[in-house]
Amino acid sequence: MTNKNSIMMQRDLEVIWHPCTQMKDHETLPLIPIQSGKGIYLYDFEGNSYIDAVSSWWVNLFGHSNEVINTRIKNQLDTLEHVLLAGFTHEPAVELAHKLVNITPPALKKVFYVDNGSSAVEAALKMSYHYHLNSGKSKSVFLSLTNSYHGETIGALSVGDVALYKETYAPLLIDNMQVPVPKDQTKIASKEALQILEKVLIQKSDKIAALIVEPLIQGAGGMHMYHPDYLIGARALTEKYDVHLIADEIMTGFGRTGKMFAFDHTDISPDFMTLSKGLTGGYLPLSVVMTTDKVYQAFYCDYNEHKAFLHSHSYTGNPLACAAALATLEIFEQNDVFAENEKKALYIKEKSEVFKVFPNVKEIRQQGMVTAIELQGYDPKERVGLRIYEYALTQGVLLRPLGNVIYFMPPYIIDYHEIDKMMEVAYEGIKRVENKN
Ligand SMILES: Cc1ncc(COP(=O)(O)O)c(C=O)c1O
Repeated sequence: MTNKNSIMMQRDLEVIWHPCTQMKDHETLPLIPIQSGKGIYLYDFEGNSYIDAVSSWWVNLFGHSNEVINTRIKNQLDTLEHVLLAGFTHEPAVELAHKLVNITPPALKKVFYVDNGSSAVEAALKMSYHYHLNSGKSKSVFLSLTNSYHGETIGALSVGDVALYKETYAPLLIDNMQVPVPKDQTKIASKEALQILEKVLIQKSDKIAALIVEPLIQGAGGMHMYHPDYLIGARALTEKYDVHLIADEIMTGFGRTGKMFAFDHTDISPDFMTLSKGLTGGYLPLSVVMTTDKVYQAFYCDYNEHKAFLHSHSYTGNPLACAAALATLEIFEQNDVFAENEKKALYIKEKSEVFKVFPNVKEIRQQGMVTAIELQGYDPKERVGLRIYEYALTQGVLLRPLGNVIYFMPPYIIDYHEIDKMMEVAYEGIKRVENKN
């Protein structure tokens, strides 16, 4: 590693404890100090570029240092950087909430601001439990899908099902149960999973507050995908058994599945929707819990009835973050993002065919532009994903496989040459681990 990069890396490792990292890995694995970003590229201190093929943990939609978003944040900065949202309000929060109500499924009428994905999940779980309580019912169990991921705070971790993150903290978790996620993208898999969901609801719905799902794509669980029929069936069943349906669209929201929201692949509405990540175009932490008038009304009464939702975070609805979100929505309004993304998704799908030559490729799946290549035949201890990650970095591409799953989730502005490069590097990476087998 060259001088400026290595000085920055040393200074970092003296003081920073990185997220989702065994820090000892950095004795051999170089940390990449990033000086700047432009479009789909990140640049280190020596000017090396990296295609951000994972949108910096799935947040970036329209590229780094995007002019439209930059300008809006700069203007907002000279007007109002922050104000508390209890007892006060501000224009970006109001405008954004109206826009979100207009573009999300019709039953969602109220916006509760939070400031990151996990906290939005926490707030949705608490709201659901509290709604039932306010309605005279004690329902404190949360249902989720196997292989799901909803964040790392205690409530969010409880409804997740990725053992790597969850197991250690088992004694700390809140009451939760899992039902099987449909095993693949077929309709029949959804039908089978719904049958089990119904059995569980028949037996336990008097204790269950909500079913929370990552609609259509389970991100951290290895980009596992399933059919919209499951959402339609789960909506009908949860309604029948008086259980809320929480759509965690923190990753799938804002176009990742090929439509604005994963729920737009159906004509149903959940009771709650959590949004974050792409909400600000990948600029600033912001999240929302959206819910129905019915839920809102269950909390609406005189103060002394003690039914209010007394949940807050200091940076709730931060104006700079709301300004970034408004700029992001403006880009959607002024460009035919979905039509362009559809063409790119098709191009990626066609190009993915070449991966099928490898015997270690188990499955290739796609939803929207999100494309995953699952490898097989490796012991997790081999850390095959890490080997591909390291190789891709030497070639100027930031891939960040999830275990044995190599996936692409680039910013939407990626062009066709850049798609070629991203996929060629993944191909070479897989070929290298294949040859070592
Ligand atoms: C579906 C889903 N929910 C919740 C979260 C947690 O969001 P955050 O990392 O902002 O806490 C994530 C993060 O990857 C996610 O993918």
